[in-house]
Amino acid sequence: MNIRILAIESSCDDTSAAVLVDGVMLSNVMATQEVHKKYGGVIPELASRAHQQNIVPVVDQALKESGLTIREIDVVAFTRGPGLLGSLIVGTSFAKGLAMALDIPLVDVNHLQGHLLSPFITEPGEDKPTPSFPYLSLLVSGGHTQIIKVVDPLNYEVLGKTIDDAVGEAFDKCAKLLDLGYPGGPVIDKLAKDGNANRFVFSKPSIKGLDYSFSGIKTSLLYFLRDNIKADPDFIQGNINDICASYQQTLVDILMKKLVKASLETSIREITLSGGVSANSLLRKTIETEGVKRGWNTYLPQFKYTTDNAAMIGIAGYYRYLSGHRASPNIAPVSRINEI
Ligand code: KG4
Ligand code: ZN
Repeated sequence: MNIRILAIESSCDDTSAAVLVDGVMLSNVMATQEVHKKYGGVIPELASRAHQQNIVPVVDQALKESGLTIREIDVVAFTRGPGLLGSLIVGTSFAKGLAMALDIPLVDVNHLQGHLLSPFITEPGEDKPTPSFPYLSLLVSGGHTQIIKVVDPLNYEVLGKTIDDAVGEAFDKCAKLLDLGYPGGPVIDKLAKDGNANRFVFSKPSIKGLDYSFSGIKTSLLYFLRDNIKADPDFIQGNINDICASYQQTLVDILMKKLVKASLETSIREITLSGGVSANSLLRKTIETEGVKRGWNTYLPQFKYTTDNAAMIGIAGYYRYLSGHRASPNIAPVSRINEI
């Protein structure tokens, strides 16, 4: 039997809806909120307001592109959390209302599970290799930096996580100090391409086990800029490419060191990457070269699935639905989920 899922994602600043049939994605529509750019970060109140404006047109467009009508949908899946509460409320209320009106099952999804299962999103006619279980996922975004062992589509084990900032924040805060706008990752990535990654050295943390820390490198950058600007007021402008390249290289080195350690300790060589920072070109290249050296099978997401999107919620919702999971009609969103 075909299972046609409408998935909704609204955990942060992207409103997204997708339609999947038996796990195959027919549409994946996204409305990115431009309103936050001028503030250098996501403003929660503005985000929930924009979700309210975007959700109906986005769902409408996703249905249109899928060629299905709302009456042909069998299941509604939605992001329950973690994320910004005001943003999650919009998606959750919409999904609940829709499932109730159509009298069809509702499935709640953990946003992180969506990221972890994003390698399984397939498009019609696509035949691509997918990771075998168990695999390791390096989950890197603006809110998370974790190494997760994915045991099967429903079971996960967090092996390591950041004890302070997420790596995406380390990119974004660097961009703020360099006056490069928000989000910082893409612009640093671009400027780094013409820079010398070995020119400057930033301090690396020494954290036990498989955990990460990114607050020290941000402070190291702050002092580095302050000292150099004292000597040369145009230091940033004159060295922007080398600063970005060296800083990015340090972040990627930190990420890779623990990922390699996790693979050696677990003897797992199926490696995936997910979350917004997985768009980073140096990280992608490094995982691939390291993978060749270490005999890994690496699965890098397509760029369009690296940031928050509803297709990943749809695929996670599909597996949960198949396992018999159903959300209660009075389910509420949660901003933090400690156990995933
Ligand atoms: O997963 P995501 O879209 O949102 C959540 O945080 O959940 O991730 C957004 C993060 C931002 O910090 C952004 O700067 C970063 O992903 N990012 C990148 C790149 N593209 C986006 N970081 C490094 N290099 C990139 N090319
Ligand atoms: Zn995310």
